[in-house]
Amino acid sequence: MLHPDGIRINGQTGEMAPKTGGYIKRLSELSAIFQDKIALGEQVSSYEDPVVYEVIEYRKDGSDLFFGTTTMYPGDVSGEFFMTRGHFHERRDLGEVYYTQSGKGILLLEDREGRTETVEMLPGVCAFIPPDWAHRSINVGAEKLVFVWVCNPLASNDYGDILQRGMRKLVVKDGVGFKVLDNPAFHMQSGR
Ligand code: NI
Repeated sequence: MLHPDGIRINGQTGEMAPKTGGYIKRLSELSAIFQDKIALGEQVSSYEDPVVYEVIEYRKDGSDLFFGTTTMYPGDVSGEFFMTRGHFHERRDLGEVYYTQSGKGILLLEDREGRTETVEMLPGVCAFIPPDWAHRSINVGAEKLVFVWVCNPLASNDYGDILQRGMRKLVVKDGVGFKVLDNPAFHMQSGR
C-alpha cells in the first residue's frame, strides 16, 4: 500500500524534499544535440564541462504517477540555447504536464506527422503535452529555468529518434531574445 506524502519543492532552485533520485546532464554528454561540436568541445574544456540541466524526482514503485523538477542552466553553444535531449514516450498513449516555476523557456514539440508547436515556459504556465508529441525544453533566458513535470512512469522516455535525427526546429539566440528556425541538419529516418 502506498502512502500519501507532501513534497516540498523550491521553485527557484528545483530542490525537492523528500526525493527519491535524480541525475545531472553535462555539456559533454549532449554533444549529439548541438550543431557546433567544435564550440561545444571548447566550452567543455574551458568551463569544466558545464551542467546543462539537473533532474530530481519523486518516484514510488507501483504508482501510476511520478513527478519531479528539471532545472536548466542558462547558456548556449554558438547561439543554440542549452536544451534537454528531447524525447517521445515509448507509450504513445501517455502524455505529460510541465508546470514552469521560474525562468523563461520554450517548450518545443513535434508530432510523428511533422507538425511542430512551441509553448512558452513562464512562471505559472502549465504546459499540456499530448500523447505522442516529442518534447524538448530550452532555456532562452538569463536565469535558471525550473519546471515541475508530472508523468506516468510507464510512459518511458524514448530518446533514440530525436538523438539520431534531431528535431525539425531550432531555437537560437536573436539579439537579447530568441527565434525559431528550421533545423538544416534535420533528416527523416526512413521506415519510422
Ligand atoms: Ni516526457
